[in-house]
Amino acid sequence: MTKRIGVLTSGGDCAGLNAALRAITYHAKHAYGWDIIGIKNGTTGLIVRPMEHLELTPELCQTTMLRTGGTILGSTNKADPFNFPCNDGRRTDRSDDLIQGYHDLKLDALIGIGGDGSMKILLDLAIKGNLNLVTIPKTIDNDLGHTELAIGYSTALDVATEALDRLQPTAASHQRVMVLEVMGRDAGHIALGAGIAGGADIILIPEIPYTLADISAKIKDINAQGRTFALVIVAESVRKENGELATVACEINGRPRYGGIGHYLGEQIGKVTGAETRVTVLGHVQRGGQPNALDRVIASSFGVRAVDLIAEGKFNRMVAWQHRQVVDIPIISAIEHYQAVAKDDVLVQTAKGLGIYIGTL
Ligand code: F6P
Repeated sequence: MTKRIGVLTSGGDCAGLNAALRAITYHAKHAYGWDIIGIKNGTTGLIVRPMEHLELTPELCQTTMLRTGGTILGSTNKADPFNFPCNDGRRTDRSDDLIQGYHDLKLDALIGIGGDGSMKILLDLAIKGNLNLVTIPKTIDNDLGHTELAIGYSTALDVATEALDRLQPTAASHQRVMVLEVMGRDAGHIALGAGIAGGADIILIPEIPYTLADISAKIKDINAQGRTFALVIVAESVRKENGELATVACEINGRPRYGGIGHYLGEQIGKVTGAETRVTVLGHVQRGGQPNALDRVIASSFGVRAVDLIAEGKFNRMVAWQHRQVVDIPIISAIEHYQAVAKDDVLVQTAKGLGIYIGTL
């Protein structure tokens, strides 16, 4: 029997979302003859009236979609249906409207593509409304549990690595210490991976404390060996030496927006070493742009498996990448097992083995 499957992208966008939408559409149509309804702007498209949605067809999802950044459906990280923003600034519970929207659209199941925040909200909605939910992990932060990769992380890693590739020659030309601040929220995966790939001398991640005295010693050591420049990469949620978080004033859903640790470190490193420092805050270029090959591959694999899970009647499951296989796990366990960088992570050991300063272990 023909099914109608809703799909939405929720939370911060990243590279590879369109590749996942394309895979879902192709597989649902070609293998099962199902219709795919794209919900616009995260869960918001099911809450507002008239609802905002469009049919995703194989024709619409032709090859260019595989290559494009962003999400053709739009997304939001500020519209929790249980705490939805009203025009007058208040917030209200609109979860019943969303559940009604799912039924009004005659959906048989919903595929949600999101990070940890979205997974939690979608699961709560599915439980409350008895919705048939399957999820796909996406986040440049790569912090969801039980999946080695989430869509978007690999491309963000490439972008951060390329930034170091570009900073190195200018650092060398001007004999400077270059500080690169990257995203990642509370996990240091981007900083750690890009720091190794891009030849950083110092990698600072929120999971491992550091001291300015150690940083100074490392830079002096580099200078003593005859090199007059250095590269530092820092994750956005690394704290100042006094434990304070560097944040920008605006808050999302009560959560602080990180930013500023790069400038703090640049200033401190200048003071303690006497080096000339410059700071680059990479920001949203890590999220936009073309997905790399790996993100296209995992997005396609996740999309296909998510559709098959619906065919098998397996719900409240998240697809995950483990040992080059797509598996499925309970959504709740991906949320509950937050994946920060472990102190004994192979990349931490690699960084140490390369002589990179990665904090006080
Ligand atoms: O979770 C993805 C992410 O890009 C984080 O790395 C970053 O802290 C945050 O989203 C930025 O959010 P916004 O797009 O609201 O500035």
